Amino acid sequence: MRKTSAILWQDAQHQVLFEILDLIARPDAGTEVLRQLHDYSENHFALEEHYMVAMNYPETATHIQAHDQFRKEISSLLSLQVDDPEFRAVVSTFLTEWLKRHVLGIDKDLEAFILASDLK
Ligand SMILES: [Fe+2]
Ligand SMILES: [Fe+2]
Repeated sequence: MRKTSAILWQDAQHQVLFEILDLIARPDAGTEVLRQLHDYSENHFALEEHYMVAMNYPETATHIQAHDQFRKEISSLLSLQVDDPEFRAVVSTFLTEWLKRHVLGIDKDLEAFILASDLK
């Protein structure tokens, strides 16, 4: 069956995350965009995790592990406190690839689970 709906908050938040990652790659961006990415991704992950726990999602532990990986990457980047445009461009590409895989992979599974549930 063809999927006809999506979870709006999840799609919208992913969109914002990709936009922040694009900002990070800009030569004139400062280190504060990394902080912005940190805060926004934390809110987003927390919301997904809230749904997983509330719905007894069977893949909760694996999914949280994946989020923790991203959290770790951002924390170590923030602690480096490097303000180098080339470095930020590499970081942006790396995290964008990670996020694409995540969004098209296990986030899609979570979306399908939420859409199939009565709690949505
Ligand atoms: Fe996720
Ligand atoms: Fe997500």
